[in-house]
Amino acid sequence: MNIITSIAEMQQAALLLKRAGKGIAFVPTMGYLHEGHASLLREGRSRGDSLVLSIFVNPIQFGPSEDLERYPRNLEGDCAIARECGVDIVFTPTAAEMYPPGFQTAIRVKELALPLCGASRPGHFDGVATVVTKLFNIVQPDLALFGKKDFQQLAIIRRMVADLSLPVEIVGMPIVREADGLAMSSRNAYLSPDQRQSALSLSKAIRLVRERYAAGERNAARLIEAARNLILAKPAATIDYLELRDAATLATVSDVSDTTLMALAVIIGTTRLIDNTLLGDER
Ligand code: PAJ
Repeated sequence: MNIITSIAEMQQAALLLKRAGKGIAFVPTMGYLHEGHASLLREGRSRGDSLVLSIFVNPIQFGPSEDLERYPRNLEGDCAIARECGVDIVFTPTAAEMYPPGFQTAIRVKELALPLCGASRPGHFDGVATVVTKLFNIVQPDLALFGKKDFQQLAIIRRMVADLSLPVEIVGMPIVREADGLAMSSRNAYLSPDQRQSALSLSKAIRLVRERYAAGERNAARLIEAARNLILAKPAATIDYLELRDAATLATVSDVSDTTLMALAVIIGTTRLIDNTLLGDER
């Protein structure tokens, strides 16, 4: 496994792979890898001749009062997981390499970035869209894999790739959960044992809404109310947002259907966790 930190070297490696006719599968991450990331890597391994993983804690997608400084990092552990998953190249640049003095360009996807995480994290998705575009230009992937854990991010990347005619196939992968339902996240490392218990309220709220939907409830306001009550019963939890929206447009809905997305962000202590489900999905 080759570890590359320079943009020029990564571009050269990608060029050689392309000339040899190899298809490049790419999994962009911010590291501190877990089974969710590994599921993307395994799928990438099976679909690409070459598999590239990027590990880069992207400063421009963090707000001034967010967790950039304390975001968990473990390059050695990440490389062990990457090797197990058959990664060929780990691209892990520094912030100075990616954003040298004078950097001032941004990619903005408009409407899709307005609600949900876009509303509570102003500028976040500009940072994501910009770094993903830059990473695509560096790694030159034929295929890139993203998790549905970040549903809005995936929708924005798909829109951006279509709008800018980027020659990359985007693959969306299912949410990987712990045995008790908690969606895997690098940020779960912040949780104390008590908070880890409170964090179950996200997946429990999802389960409740899915059950009521299966039982025939279609009224969005009533479903939201039931989910809110479940979460607020935990003293340690504050709701950032809890919404039912159309999965394609992210517009709000008053009556839900199989194409409705339930998305929520909950703050446990100082840790902000997100989760979502598409009501029509099995499980
Ligand atoms: P990060 O949070 O490290 O996530 C990297 C990829 O792993 C994303 O596509 C995310 O959706 C996916 N992922 C995370 N947890 C998952 C889970 N439990 N199940 C399935 N997939 C999961 O998302 C980012 O990094 C960044 O915004 C990035 C796209 C790399 C741009 O900086």
